[in-house]
Amino acid sequence: MWRPISPAGSMTEETIKMRKHGVQVFAVLAGAMLICTAAVAGGDAGAGKEKSVVCASCHGVSGESVMPDYPVLAGQHQDYLEHSLKAYRSGERSNPIMAAFVAALSDEDIADLAAYYAAQEGLFTLNR
Ligand code: HEC
Repeated sequence: MWRPISPAGSMTEETIKMRKHGVQVFAVLAGAMLICTAAVAGGDAGAGKEKSVVCASCHGVSGESVMPDYPVLAGQHQDYLEHSLKAYRSGERSNPIMAAFVAALSDEDIADLAAYYAAQEGLFTLNR
């Protein structure tokens, strides 16, 4: 089974253990969800919401993470989210935690997740 590599020296042993446990539990859930969900082309926010359950432990229920280690996804641009997830999947963007969570995602899963988080209120674009 894949184990996360601790990125930060500042984490306590307990935090690291909790994270490992969480990642294992959610990796199993992610696998189960992928089997159960049918992919929808083009970015379906409703389908993305269902697929995002596995992401909520770190990124928050609607992408509004409250922990500084985990980026806020709510309201992020859809194309940025898609690009980031594909970069984790290809290895172009390297992060051991996210690599595990995107490894089995299809292009449709990524489009749906991106549509869901982009549809949430969160980040805003400056008007200049
Ligand atoms: C175990 C915690 C955890 C889970 C679960 C998780 N992520 Fe992440 N995610 C992270 C961390 C940590 C980062 C920052 C990684 C980095 O520095 O590149 C991140 C980064 C991201 C980014 C890049 C954000 C940005 O601003 O560049 C996206 C998009 C993302 N995650 C989406 C997801 C999706 C979709 C899921 C569910 C399929 C998910 N994550 C599940 C921890 C998690």
